[in-house]
Amino acid sequence: MVRLELATVLLAVAAAVNAVQVDTPEVLPGAYIVEYENDQDTNAFVRKFGGRASLRKDLRFKLFKGASIQFKDTKNAEEMAAKVAKLPTIKRIFPVRRYPIPQHDVLSTGDDAAALVKRQLGGNVTNSFSPHLMTQVNKFKEAGITGKGIKIAVIDTGCLVSYGADLVGDAFNGANQPRPDNDPVDNCNGHGTHVAGIIAAQSNNPYGIVGAAEGVQLGAYRVFGCQGDVGNDLLIAAYNMAYEAGSDIITASIGGASGWSEDPWAAVVSRIVENGVPCVVSAGNDGAAGVFYASTAANGKQVTAIASVDNVITPALLANATYQIDSKSEFFGFTGGDPQSWNSVSLPLWTVNYNTTDEAHGCDPYPASTPNLSGYIVLIRRGSCTFVQKVENAVAKGARYVIFYNNVPGTLSVTARVPGLSAVATIPSGTGELWVKALESGKRVLVNMANPSTAPKFLANFDNPTSGGYLSSFTSWGPTFEVESKPQFSTPGGYILSTYPRLLGSYGVLSGTSMACPLAAAIYALVMNVRGTKDPKTIENLLSSTAKPNLFRRDGVSSPYLAPVPQQGAGLVQAWDAAKATTLLSTSGLSFNDTDHFNPVQTFTVSNTGSSSVTYSLSNVGAATAYTYSSPGALTPASLPSVELTGNFASLAFTPSTFTLGAGQRRIVTVKATAPTGLDVKRLPVYSGYIAINGSDSSALSLPYLGVAGSLHSVVVLNSDNTLLARARDSTNSPVAANLTFTLPPPGQSNITAVRNRADMPKLVVTLAMGSAMIRVDVVPLTNCSTAAQNAKVVFGTRTLGQPEEFPSWYNPRGTLQYAWDGRLADGSYVPAGRYKLTVRALRIFGDESKSEEYDVTETVPFRIRYLTEGKTQKRKRFVKGERALWTVGVERRQTPEQCEADERTLKQ
Ligand SMILES: *[C@@H]1O[C@H](CO)[C@@H](O)[C@H](O)[C@H]1NC(C)=O
Ligand SMILES: *[C@@H]1O[C@H](CO)[C@@H](O)[C@H](O)[C@H]1NC(C)=O
Ligand SMILES: *[C@@H]1O[C@H](CO)[C@@H](O)[C@H](O)[C@H]1NC(C)=O
Ligand SMILES: *[C@@H]1O[C@H](CO)[C@@H](O)[C@H](O)[C@H]1NC(C)=O
Ligand SMILES: *[C@@H]1O[C@H](CO)[C@@H](O)[C@H](O)[C@H]1NC(C)=O
Ligand SMILES: *[C@@H]1O[C@H](CO)[C@@H](O)[C@H](O)[C@H]1NC(C)=O
Ligand SMILES: *[C@@H]1O[C@H](CO)[C@@H](O)[C@H](O)[C@H]1NC(C)=O
Ligand SMILES: *[C@@H]1O[C@H](CO)[C@@H](O)[C@H](O)[C@H]1NC(C)=O
Repeated sequence: MVRLELATVLLAVAAAVNAVQVDTPEVLPGAYIVEYENDQDTNAFVRKFGGRASLRKDLRFKLFKGASIQFKDTKNAEEMAAKVAKLPTIKRIFPVRRYPIPQHDVLSTGDDAAALVKRQLGGNVTNSFSPHLMTQVNKFKEAGITGKGIKIAVIDTGCLVSYGADLVGDAFNGANQPRPDNDPVDNCNGHGTHVAGIIAAQSNNPYGIVGAAEGVQLGAYRVFGCQGDVGNDLLIAAYNMAYEAGSDIITASIGGASGWSEDPWAAVVSRIVENGVPCVVSAGNDGAAGVFYASTAANGKQVTAIASVDNVITPALLANATYQIDSKSEFFGFTGGDPQSWNSVSLPLWTVNYNTTDEAHGCDPYPASTPNLSGYIVLIRRGSCTFVQKVENAVAKGARYVIFYNNVPGTLSVTARVPGLSAVATIPSGTGELWVKALESGKRVLVNMANPSTAPKFLANFDNPTSGGYLSSFTSWGPTFEVESKPQFSTPGGYILSTYPRLLGSYGVLSGTSMACPLAAAIYALVMNVRGTKDPKTIENLLSSTAKPNLFRRDGVSSPYLAPVPQQGAGLVQAWDAAKATTLLSTSGLSFNDTDHFNPVQTFTVSNTGSSSVTYSLSNVGAATAYTYSSPGALTPASLPSVELTGNFASLAFTPSTFTLGAGQRRIVTVKATAPTGLDVKRLPVYSGYIAINGSDSSALSLPYLGVAGSLHSVVVLNSDNTLLARARDSTNSPVAANLTFTLPPPGQSNITAVRNRADMPKLVVTLAMGSAMIRVDVVPLTNCSTAAQNAKVVFGTRTLGQPEEFPSWYNPRGTLQYAWDGRLADGSYVPAGRYKLTVRALRIFGDESKSEEYDVTETVPFRIRYLTEGKTQKRKRFVKGERALWTVGVERRQTPEQCEADERTLKQ
């Protein structure tokens, strides 16, 4: 089987354009990561396969000994893999998964040539380095602390650095041969350059961009080419190389949907943390997917997952153009979109109404009285319906040019490829409102646009009262399916100005947990400088206990409750407080697990490392409880806009609840939790909050906790309605009718595109409503005419020829998984032509895989398969109607299911 769907993209996204992501990382056919029990010679190991496997990457490192290999004959790959797994010298073997290149939606870019003008456009101008003010990074600058002597490794698309490696080369796309070299420069993507600038940009640039830890030594491990994916074998290699190069901190703004800390990449990162090097990973940009959508490798044990809050300032790099009202000329800034043929466009403005608070401005078709708009630039307010719909309404009246004015601070780059439209742009809300006022008073507004690529740019900073300082709507929510607390804490990642490759404009404003994570890495370096320790646990505990939780906020309106711990972790990092804290906690958070595994009594240690005695008092501060489901019968977790929050808090008892510690003393505190009452446990509420630890020295620490008031094991994980058989070519996944005959490629040839295109393969679509640690699929024979069918085994009461290749599938995220099937089984054999159905079993969370009742089960409709045979059999060809000449249906008697069934009938008579 070939998993078709691409993985969720982490990283930089525009906050405004989130959709619920349900894709899962793709598996690379025939490629496996092998971990050795003990060190062994990789070349000798590969030679054992006698030419049937080649080496992808030698993965022999201090903390991981193994290799990734590619079976040449992918036909027998699973069988070989199964054999390898049984070797006593092998600890484990797992398929190579691919993670896509950081997709960034760039909000705006600008270049060195532009004069720096900070100008107020409908907002307020303050410090452009508000991310530093928000996290107290400026205090380190004032104290001259820059992260000097600390090595930070950035695993990304590359950047300019002092150490590191390019593991892949420009042309790498995830499927072809990587071409490693020693120069990890990012000249085609930009993501890595932006990330590196957040950590260590030097202050000699026109926009005054300053890295948070300018003094660090930066290492870059480039794992993406200009386009495409990376396999987790290269990610594992990059992490180990970064570790062995003596990095003090490793940061990666990469990931994909998971929710399982057992994921192999996550497990390797955990191991590096255990060996003393902190690893921060962006929490993911799938906030829209709701609760329980943790991303790997951020979801690894001891891996520090970084959530994002929005910048309190929205910076924008705007292209300069002019407009005239009453023949008075003024300049304004805009962001070009797609299309963008703005060169020398000079037209008057027109707008459908003058209401600057109209939520759905331009969403309805324009009235009949509308003039022909071909001689105007149409001004439309952003909001409610899509940009494309708004553009279509304008174009229907002849418009060729559209400018959107924003309904939140700043601008963004809009894509609206509508036939008839020549150019689109965005302007700040203030400019739009000013123009509308002029139009309303009957004035003519003449706008002289400029080519956004070549126009001079200037930086404008807008106050962000809508979301500044609150959790970014895109930031992914935990916890993991096993109720480990994720994310750990947050830093600013929404609306971040940083460096960008020269070819792409030199500077850019990007949004994503990708932008939050490097700031956290820089903060680790600063805290290391001040405290003189590099211990991951100590620093994570300090950052967690001193972080500031904030209220939940949606669409510019704050809720009365603190945002749930599965969204914000410990809260917004306060780096200076962490560096200076004299009270230390022994943990960064507590999980009380779910009701079935309720672990209400837990302990942690409070240490007073200060020079005088402190009296502490402990209290419980609840955060909003988040219902996983919208209703008791719902199968799929609610997406973010409809996640219901309540103020039913857990109660906690502390022993002792107040105590005094002399200088250097410590004390164990016992916490006893009582889950909140009055909740509908069928809707799987995730409760959370903070243990406030207030000291008489005016210290105020908090320790996040969470738990699930309900049973994860009782939750249905398999969405049976959307688990079905479709045609491989059908991207809409429509279920096929019973007894459809699929014509598969000749055995072993499904990997050849030409054959695939002629074949008609079935596609198994498995939809998981919640994560499942294991999916098994049985190929159930419905005819008895083949020897294989006659010898079918029985597993969990189901007759089976075995599982298709790729099954069982371990540690699956929630969402839709798609597998095209070419008839191959996990043992490498092909099922004979015949009539079959597939039985799908998904293991419940915390389920015992040896018990059939621990799975959700469904089955597909019956279907028939037969195989194409190759052209060389044409001599004895027997064309079937509609078949192309090159590919003929085989002549062997048992190669058609109909023949097989006819035989069966004959036998029965
Ligand atoms: C801009 O910020 C300053 C300082 O916070 C404040 O006094 C002023 O009223 C603000 N101006 C506007 C237009 O919001
Ligand atoms: C924009 O262009 C106008 C006219 O060329 C010029 O006067 C103004 O200074 C420019 N503004 C910025 C911010 O570059
Ligand atoms: C403008 O639109 C808003 C939101 O739709 C509406 O509440 C308000 O009444 C409108 N104002 C006018 C003057 O039509
Ligand atoms: C508007 O005018 C242009 C140019 O005269 C013409 O080509 C176009 O068809 C008109 N569009 C509409 C919707 O009337
Ligand atoms: C919750 O309990 C299960 C079952 O004992 C365990 O596997 C899991 O690790 C627990 N989760 C946490 C966060 O302790
Ligand atoms: C603990 O300190 C915080 C922050 O200063 C404060 O908001 C809270 O009220 C204090 N709690 C108690 C129980 O004193
Ligand atoms: C599918 O084919 C089998 C065997 O020919 C037949 O018994 C069954 O009724 C068919 N099912 C449907 C839904 O047509
Ligand atoms: C199968 O396809 C993959 C990806 O396109 C390719 O790398 C591999 O070489 C192919 N294998 C065979 C046996 O053709």
